[in-house]
Amino acid sequence: MSFPALKLRRAGENRKKNRKRLSNWLGSSRLRPRARYAVAEMPGRAVVLGSRGQLGVELVRELEHRGYRVSGFDRPELDITDRRAVEREISALIPEVVFNAAAYNQVDVAEEEPDAAFAVNALAVRNIALACRQTGALLVHYSTDYVFDGQAGRPYTEEDPPHPLSAYAVSKLAGELYAQAYLDRWIIIRTSGVYGPGGLYTARGNFIELMLRLAGEGKVIRVVQDHVASPTYAPALAARSVDLVQRGLLGLFHIGGGTPISWFDWARMIFQAAGVQAELRPTNEQEYRTAARRPKFSALSNAKIERLGLAPMPPLEDALRSYMILRRAALAGSGSADRKQPV
Ligand SMILES: NC(=O)c1ccc[n+]([C@@H]2O[C@H](COP(=O)([O-])OP(=O)(O)OC[C@H]3O[C@@H](n4cnc5c(N)ncnc54)[C@H](OP(=O)(O)O)[C@@H]3O)[C@@H](O)[C@H]2O)c1
Repeated sequence: MSFPALKLRRAGENRKKNRKRLSNWLGSSRLRPRARYAVAEMPGRAVVLGSRGQLGVELVRELEHRGYRVSGFDRPELDITDRRAVEREISALIPEVVFNAAAYNQVDVAEEEPDAAFAVNALAVRNIALACRQTGALLVHYSTDYVFDGQAGRPYTEEDPPHPLSAYAVSKLAGELYAQAYLDRWIIIRTSGVYGPGGLYTARGNFIELMLRLAGEGKVIRVVQDHVASPTYAPALAARSVDLVQRGLLGLFHIGGGTPISWFDWARMIFQAAGVQAELRPTNEQEYRTAARRPKFSALSNAKIERLGLAPMPPLEDALRSYMILRRAALAGSGSADRKQPV
């Protein structure tokens, strides 16, 4: 080999080495300024997965309102169980933060198809966490009050040990573990009984829409009185979620509606707020058997987020009134009902 040829080959090898060094350096240095200055920086790009779900629509709205450039994906655009597609979309956008509001939420059906629940609620979270690790994005992931067994008899805190009772609950807890296993920077938010105006348009809807539909059919409605949760208003949950990100807080947080209430009493409140006469009767878990076991008392304590200075969640009555106003506006075709009041 002639001397110039050798020189050229060495130059080529050096360029390759330098490129590798540069990309290693870029990879790691990209993380640092973002992590250190996240609070002070102007909002960057945010990705919302499950962007057409009840919470997803509110996250998109809240993030846009606060100046983020938002890319929303729901199942038709990006199936989160497709690892390569998740990696492709997230690495193309290099977001500052990824909110995963996508989930398999069919608690009873999951007993028949636990693998389907696990694919979306657990393995797909691994896909997202891997993509976040590659790009240095913060992951905000949502979990459930159903990770608890309901035996505590008081609102659950972040320190309480989980003990899931169903395939759905196990899959959600596994999703939490995947997020923590693959990432140093994560926020996991456990919530409870989510309702938001987006539920008017989703296949699964929410408890309020179910109650109003059954009342409209003139049926006798039996609702359990011995199970207590803390119904959570999606717009307020979205706002607190973005607060956590903007304050640079990391870790596990509970954000429930703040009011422990039985499903029966919640149904009664809903009919009162809607001005609907319904044939509502109390029942209990002995009479009303479901495929999945559920915790009897799964209300969540918001004490941690309040200690950290986040605004308390709105009182249940106010949140329900706000829901009804937005619902009426949506049904009347003016989806732009004013949202000037902070939630
Ligand atoms: N709803 C509750 O009462 C409740 C209670 C506790 C915790 N949570 C948690 O809170 C979060 C938000 O819940 P939500 O009420 O907003 O749920 P939602 O209204 O059911 O929305 C979930 C969204 O995720 C989408 N999705 C499902 N599988 C997907 C996949 N493989 N790829 C991409 N998108 C997929 C759904 O699309 P499809 O309609 O096509 O399936 C839907 O648009 C979830 O993590 C949930 O587990 C909810």
